[in-house]
Amino acid sequence: MRVLVVGGGGREHALVWKIAQSPHISEIYCAPGNAGIARLATCVPVAAEDIEGLLAFARQAGIDLTVVGPEAPLVAGIVDAFQAAGLPIFGPSRAAARLEGSKVFAKELMEAAGIPTARYAAFTEQAAALAYLEEHPGPVVVKADGLAAGKGVVVAPDTTVAREAVTAMFGGRFGPAGKQVVIEELLEGEEVSVLAISDGERVIPLLPSQDHKRVGEGDTGPNTGGMGAYAPVPFYTPEIAGEVEEKILRPTVRAMAAAGCPYRGVLYAGLMLTREGPKVLEFNCRFGDPETQPLMLLLQSDLVELMLATINGELAGKIDWYPGAAAGVVLAAGGYPGPYAKGTPIAGLEAVPPGVEVFHAGTALVDGQVVTAGGRVLCVTAKGEDLRAALERVYAGIKAINFAGMHYRRDIGYRALQIASK
Ligand code: AMP
Ligand code: GLY
Repeated sequence: MRVLVVGGGGREHALVWKIAQSPHISEIYCAPGNAGIARLATCVPVAAEDIEGLLAFARQAGIDLTVVGPEAPLVAGIVDAFQAAGLPIFGPSRAAARLEGSKVFAKELMEAAGIPTARYAAFTEQAAALAYLEEHPGPVVVKADGLAAGKGVVVAPDTTVAREAVTAMFGGRFGPAGKQVVIEELLEGEEVSVLAISDGERVIPLLPSQDHKRVGEGDTGPNTGGMGAYAPVPFYTPEIAGEVEEKILRPTVRAMAAAGCPYRGVLYAGLMLTREGPKVLEFNCRFGDPETQPLMLLLQSDLVELMLATINGELAGKIDWYPGAAAGVVLAAGGYPGPYAKGTPIAGLEAVPPGVEVFHAGTALVDGQVVTAGGRVLCVTAKGEDLRAALERVYAGIKAINFAGMHYRRDIGYRALQIASK
């Protein structure tokens, strides 16, 4: 089989790494890929958002399976375009991807199906949103309806911050994504990412994982795309897992099918484990980044077989995992998540000890030298018999790598380790 992976971040490097291990594969392409992916796949200079360009390439190269990493092409309808051309593709249709593409759609679906989530109100007018804030003082979360590259959510501790967020969103700071705004109740608890695979009818959860969204240690500072992740999550008990399947994952897949847009692909539920039980913070229509990096190290089943079964509506049985735990720590460019330099040479990649996978995110190859090309540059990932062992390997691997301005969190997994030691 000839496989095309769409995207060029750490998530896509991990997907390519895992797909390359499948006996079904003869060739792998990645569009646009990066310097790390180029060692495993043929990188094609077509942007992930260029649906026409990707379609033309897939036709010409005789691609048997296309796997989409990022949300933008999914929400723009890449799956519909490939299906119309008779090309097998893994991911939800445009209508199903609304679960991530429109927060109002997701909230309405959850409300109608009785899926636990934060109480909310949706607004198309700034004045009504501001009036609502006056009636509901205290902390709230303000969200732009559409895709905003992870920046459309403001956790507002008080009405002043909430008012600023509402004004900025209606004022066009997030473009058309802010035409509608959701204001919701602030939920408290531990955050967990539960990614599941659904074929439109059945749904199988992957191992639970936890991301670290803030740039600073102890979860301080501004939000990022994610600074590190680990799996599984020790405090995600079988009881919680059962509740999430019964009250969240299955009802969501059922509601999507009933709405005429069966969900096929990765259903990523961002959850808050509250005192009243797990509640949905958000849905994503794709694999998480960086959650996918540790998950791929732990996945024992053949990913290509799982994806084909999903596409064909034949998902069955269970997914096999290696024992132990895995963790990934992101090495970011100086200044990230603010402005940062590109083109900085990266040293030491060849000195990383065996057993440590360095998944590339924002990297490029310039005259034979790997240089930085994004804010999140690398995700150093390893497996171990438990989380502590996995983290020791990761941090030992990081010692080999260096580039000017490099920064990373030294406390990935700390919540799990703290809870374990209590
Ligand atoms: P999202 O872009 O929807 O993933 O939201 C980004 C982050 O905002 C989440 O990962 C949470 O940390 C936080 N968040 C979103 N909604 C809520 C909520 N209702 N209560 C508390 N935190 C939230
Ligand atoms: N790690 C968060 C996300 O992929 O949305």
